Amino acid sequence: MEIVVVENYDEMSDVACSVVEETVKRNPACVLGLATGSTPLGLYERMVRGYREGKVSYKNVKAVNLDEYIGLPSSHPQSYAFFMREHLFSQIDILPENTHIENGMATDEKAECARYNALLDSMPRDLQVLGIGSNGHIAFNEPFTPFGSETHTVALAESTVKDNSRLFERIEDVPRRAFTMGLKNIMDARRILILASGANKANAVYGLVKGEVTTALPASILQKHGNVVLVCDRAAAQKLGDGV
Ligand code: PGA
Repeated sequence: MEIVVVENYDEMSDVACSVVEETVKRNPACVLGLATGSTPLGLYERMVRGYREGKVSYKNVKAVNLDEYIGLPSSHPQSYAFFMREHLFSQIDILPENTHIENGMATDEKAECARYNALLDSMPRDLQVLGIGSNGHIAFNEPFTPFGSETHTVALAESTVKDNSRLFERIEDVPRRAFTMGLKNIMDARRILILASGANKANAVYGLVKGEVTTALPASILQKHGNVVLVCDRAAAQKLGDGV
């Protein structure tokens, strides 16, 4: 695993953006796996800036997102579909038909998982962007999700509901279930860019880099992927020691 430790969130976002932009410049028709949450916001701001400055075009890029809350329509401001449109897709030249996310309102959940798995198989990702939960989850793969998992529905861990409640008016409004790509789907990406910022991620980052590979900390599976870059700030890296 390549590890880049930077001073702060802004520097993390700068490095992340250069990784994404290099991927797109190398292959203007690449497939990007994208993530939601607070972590990639700075990255998306910089991607928008790079596009406006004419450095990169996303005209032929395809995007697939990791996860979506069950029960929120894509028009709901807290849905991940809405988040992606608001923070990225509506501000760059990616074609709406080239952006993909699970349908949080699907009535047949099994069929929706199968549809998404087939889509992922037909569109191998050149680069997968990931955040990491304070409990070591990646996407909504909570502790003890099997490493071989594909797209599935999950009951969110209580810690995740609490972490995400800052974005909702009341904790009761946070959906308790979600669709998520599985760990196998994530591992299928050719390259993985995982981002972490802040002291509340320090334990998870330690487990990701130095812990035992265990379903108790889902991100630890990334130790088995040959092409991962972790970009984290000093606060998130504080438990790694001086050797990195
Ligand atoms: P965050 O979430 O970016 O909002 O901290 C990360 C995650 O849960 O993957």
